Amino acid sequence: MACSKGAEAATHGTGEEPNPVSPVSITGTADAFRQAMRHFASSVTIVSTEDDGAMYGMTATSVTSVSMAPPAILACVNQAAWFHQHISRKGAFCVNVLGFDHVSQCETFGGRGIGVDRFKADEWREGHRAIPYFLDADTAIFCKVEQAVDHGTHTIFIGLVEQVIVKNEVNPLVYLDGGFMTLTRKQDFGSRRA
Ligand SMILES: Cc1cc2nc3c(=O)[nH]c(=O)nc-3n(C[C@H](O)[C@H](O)[C@H](O)COP(=O)(O)O)c2cc1C
Repeated sequence: MACSKGAEAATHGTGEEPNPVSPVSITGTADAFRQAMRHFASSVTIVSTEDDGAMYGMTATSVTSVSMAPPAILACVNQAAWFHQHISRKGAFCVNVLGFDHVSQCETFGGRGIGVDRFKADEWREGHRAIPYFLDADTAIFCKVEQAVDHGTHTIFIGLVEQVIVKNEVNPLVYLDGGFMTLTRKQDFGSRRA
């Protein structure tokens, strides 16, 4: 396969000598994949739901838009997470996109907190379909599960967007290379923005 050696891949097939200082590795191993994923910059979210009168939520970065028609997003949830059974049962969820000052919320919902205690430190409101949303989130996107596809350790929940609460500021908390980042705008793509 063309990319089987990192050094070859680094030259993009130009025939040039690979740059000796660029760190190149390895194919196909779990470690290499983990390393590669450190290069993905992801918005940090808390995916929330309600089940039998109780609130549930977990930090997730594997959230992305799927389509505009119909408006749909997906979230990948580990089948070993407690949250998995609740989102499955409810068939609906909310994606709360965190702002740059929400590191502690990310950590709480990423494992430090337990169950409903995760919601105690902040203001959460009951929203669409009785699902809680984080009042201070940059945006909250409420979805009904359209499809749940199991893949390996995770389930991909594809959600049809039913309601959106959006703020004007865009100050996302970004997860990259095992840590948190904020963004600075380099340039506007004027025509692409509404
Ligand atoms: C930055 C960050 C991103 C995460 N992204 C995901 C994700 O996309 N999907 C997932 O299943 N778990 C993800 N996790 C792990 C869950 O948030 C974590 O396992 C959580 O404790 C699950 O909660 P529960 O078992 O109480 O449901 C992430 C954790 C962190 C800190």
